[in-house]
Amino acid sequence: MEISMKNMKSKWLGVVVIVCAGMLTESCIHDTLILPVPPEENPDPGCSSDGSVCFESSVLPIFVSSCAITKCHNSSSHREGYVLDSYANIIKRGISPGNANGSKLYKVLFENGEDRMPPDGSLTTAQKDSIRVWINEGAKNTTNCNCYCDPEAFTFAAVIEPLINNKCVGCHKPGSLSGKIDLSTYAKIKTQADNGKLLGSVSHDSGFKPMPEGSKLSDCEITQISKWIDAGALDN
Ligand code: HEC
Repeated sequence: MEISMKNMKSKWLGVVVIVCAGMLTESCIHDTLILPVPPEENPDPGCSSDGSVCFESSVLPIFVSSCAITKCHNSSSHREGYVLDSYANIIKRGISPGNANGSKLYKVLFENGEDRMPPDGSLTTAQKDSIRVWINEGAKNTTNCNCYCDPEAFTFAAVIEPLINNKCVGCHKPGSLSGKIDLSTYAKIKTQADNGKLLGSVSHDSGFKPMPEGSKLSDCEITQISKWIDAGALDN
């Protein structure tokens, strides 16, 4: 089986080489070099054109909302010397590009006791997977990734909850209750949806604190939240 697969591959390679030799264009040579990312290694498919994990939209928000918070790893607290609020700072220590299992910042997610990060062990498996695959793909500063976002998709379980988990909950949960706002459960999120603060803050409307701190959600994400609220902010 192995051997016949290899034969198949070399046959194809032969075809590709012949085609390339005939054309010798940039794009032909380039195309043959792109290796597809297997689906199981790609927790956020479609987020960038080559299918790799997008740092800006999938990884940075996890660090910002779960690590770079007051008294932990923001620029004023920098516990243990780690500041985890930007690409340049995150990549400085504890990451070996290409090797998640040899990266301190990945290993601590699975520690026990006081070495565990975040201390409450709150990252989801999907969030840990994003960090692992991002490191294994070379820990690159991928930005403007054209993440796929469907403004017509706005169920709580598939869209709203993962969005808030990634970009808000680290700063808004018991034990880290910024602005006394809790977004860690459906019921708590619904309270902020009903009183107008959720949409006001993410839309950066005047009279509200602009959220998430220091950045803005995409127009599509804001539309999803707005439509979910308009449809009754259901636990669907
Ligand atoms: C890095 C930490 C951080 C992140 C990430 C963050 N917040 Fe906040 N949030 C704060 C802080 C701090 C305050 C209090 C600000 C103040 O009172 O000056 C706050 C306040 C708020 C408020 C109250 C706003 C008001 O005008 O009263 C809401 C609602 C809120 N956040 C929602 C969100 C949502 C939704 C997200 C994700 C899209 C988010 N936050 C992400 C730190 C954060």
